[in-house]
Amino acid sequence: TRVLVLNGPNLGRLGRRQPEIYGTTTFGELAGQCVEWGHAVGLDVEVRQTNHEGELLDWLNTAADEQTPVVLNAAAWTHYSYALLDACAQLTAPLVEVHISDPKQRPEEFRHRSVVTAYAVDVVAGHGTDGYRLALERLAAAL
Ligand code: DQA
Repeated sequence: TRVLVLNGPNLGRLGRRQPEIYGTTTFGELAGQCVEWGHAVGLDVEVRQTNHEGELLDWLNTAADEQTPVVLNAAAWTHYSYALLDACAQLTAPLVEVHISDPKQRPEEFRHRSVVTAYAVDVVAGHGTDGYRLALERLAAAL
């Protein structure tokens, strides 16, 4: 089964970005691991990252058209983008929300809300980049 692992803003700098919060695994390393973790559970994984909200919306709209399952780390858009909410609402195949940190445990109020969760079959947060493996396993289980 083909699966998209979609990543929002600033996640391209993983490994260099606030490593005390997000760890030292680079985005390129994580992308390679996701492909391997996917294969292990029978998924054909494609990993993407964008800093442009419209690009993420286009990817989600295509995923809706093609009924493609999605693992989504929408990063900061998670907390305030109603366009993202509307795009997630249109998905018909399972969606798993993933975060490297646990936004609900972080001090900033704005991180405590997610517009994605209502449309997700599962949320994985606070497991570092290994959380993507859990997310892919939960997606495989939901399929
Ligand atoms: C994040 C958490 C968000 O609050 C933050 O804006 C991110 C990354 C995470 O993976 O922990 O950019 O989604």
